[in-house]
Amino acid sequence: MVKPSKPAKSNTRLDTPTDLSGNATPEIAAALNGCLADAFALYMKTKNFHWHVSGPHFRSYHLLFDEQAAEIYATTDELAERVRKIGGKTIHSISEIAKLQTIKDNNKEFVSAQEMLIELMPDTKLTIKAMRAAHEVVDKHDDIATASILENFIDAAEKRHWFLFEMSRSGDGSGH
Ligand SMILES: [Fe+2]
Repeated sequence: MVKPSKPAKSNTRLDTPTDLSGNATPEIAAALNGCLADAFALYMKTKNFHWHVSGPHFRSYHLLFDEQAAEIYATTDELAERVRKIGGKTIHSISEIAKLQTIKDNNKEFVSAQEMLIELMPDTKLTIKAMRAAHEVVDKHDDIATASILENFIDAAEKRHWFLFEMSRSGDGSGH
């Protein structure tokens, strides 16, 4: 007689079958959840700047920040679902984001348009660096699907950095 299988323990209920080996799931999940927390933090900051920017270039900055925020937000679902596909658990709340994010919030009352661009550049670079580090982890585990997602996200983040850099230039050929 076949015994009925035991009910799954609560902490294994969310396991997803994966053929990735060894420590792949926890290591990749940790790397991706870090990227996810920073994506939410950068999304929020970019929206904040979209809402609070002012000055002579209002329209172009307002639209640029909205465009970038939408792109960043679109990465969150893919990152989180990738974690679930490989059997990991992802972020549950704003408080978890706060614990994991490496990008610093900006709660200042007023930030000039130029300062917004200057601040978003290193933040964007930080996300690129974290995604490159995550790419090394997934490479180690032959997780080519996550690698491919990260490659596209890195390219998009580099494009956002390019736009921020160009818009931050003074126009006199001196850089900033
Ligand atoms: Fe808006």
